[in-house]
Amino acid sequence: MKVLLTGANGQLGTCIKNRVKSFPEISLEAKSSSELNLLKLDEVEAYFQRRQPDFCINAGAYTQVDLAEEEAKKAFAINAEAVEHLAKMCAKYKCKLIHISTDYVFDGEKREAYLESDITNPINVYGASKLAGEKAIEQVLEAHYIIRTSWLYSDVGKNFFTSMKNLLKKGNELKIVTSQKGCPTNAYHLAEAILRLVKHDYVIYGIYHFSNAEATTWYDFTKAIARLIEADESLVLPTEHYPTKAKRPENSVLSCTKIEQALGYKIPHWKTALSELK
Ligand SMILES: NC(=O)c1ccc[n+]([C@@H]2O[C@H](COP(=O)([O-])OP(=O)(O)OC[C@H]3O[C@@H](n4cnc5c(N)ncnc54)[C@H](OP(=O)(O)O)[C@@H]3O)[C@@H](O)[C@H]2O)c1
Repeated sequence: MKVLLTGANGQLGTCIKNRVKSFPEISLEAKSSSELNLLKLDEVEAYFQRRQPDFCINAGAYTQVDLAEEEAKKAFAINAEAVEHLAKMCAKYKCKLIHISTDYVFDGEKREAYLESDITNPINVYGASKLAGEKAIEQVLEAHYIIRTSWLYSDVGKNFFTSMKNLLKKGNELKIVTSQKGCPTNAYHLAEAILRLVKHDYVIYGIYHFSNAEATTWYDFTKAIARLIEADESLVLPTEHYPTKAKRPENSVLSCTKIEQALGYKIPHWKTALSELK
């Protein structure tokens, strides 16, 4: 199976490149943003024409949630317009698309875990741009999987886990919010699920949620990181609010039953997933 991976040098892209070694049936062509820029529409088309991939995994995105409030045009260009073009290329060259989206398409007002069928209502520009990408795919390509994930972390690059780890190691006191609830997702676990989806190749198209199991708060997650790296847990202090440019949903817990049933396995608890980064 010939699989194109876009945004290959990002956090998720790197985890996919790492995990694909256990999937010998998959021949991965990993393209960083400089090798295949999704904004360069002609180059994207030329790639599809030349290589005719069976699957495209789009791990490329504009991911700076706060900066997006000032750079809406850029966020929409990458997360919506370039994604629409990518989906059109997939339709034209008969390629299935696995696209990654976000819990931030929801407003966080729901009390229970969000289902794939729940009404979306983003409360920040990043979420709105990702939702526009989802809608564009749905309009132009039947053969799509949109996987919404949440609180993605790993030991790769700059993410919440690596940032907190570095600050705690330096002995910095950290004020962390207790008011937002969600499910941390080990990016290697998401990579594994995506590659299983490619391998299975018979899962029904549509939207799926993927996160590690059980909800927590950023505060409790950070305490767990401190314990994992054997840092002083008392450095982690609770705060009700942490001011940021972009608003965040208070509840972004995703229900992942649909993907568990489709792929036939139980997604591990976030504590188990975190412990793998020791
Ligand atoms: N991180 C999270 O907490 C989180 C939560 C929910 C959903 N997600 C979604 O999960 C996916 C993966 O996120 P991540 O954490 O791996 O993000 P990331 O580390 O920021 O990686 C994004 C990648 O996209 C590339 N990219 C940006 N513009 C591009 C373009 N025009 N053409 C091609 N590639 C481009 C970036 O390359 P450069 O660095 O060279 O610009 C980078 O390698 C994204 O769709 C994101 O929206 C992430």
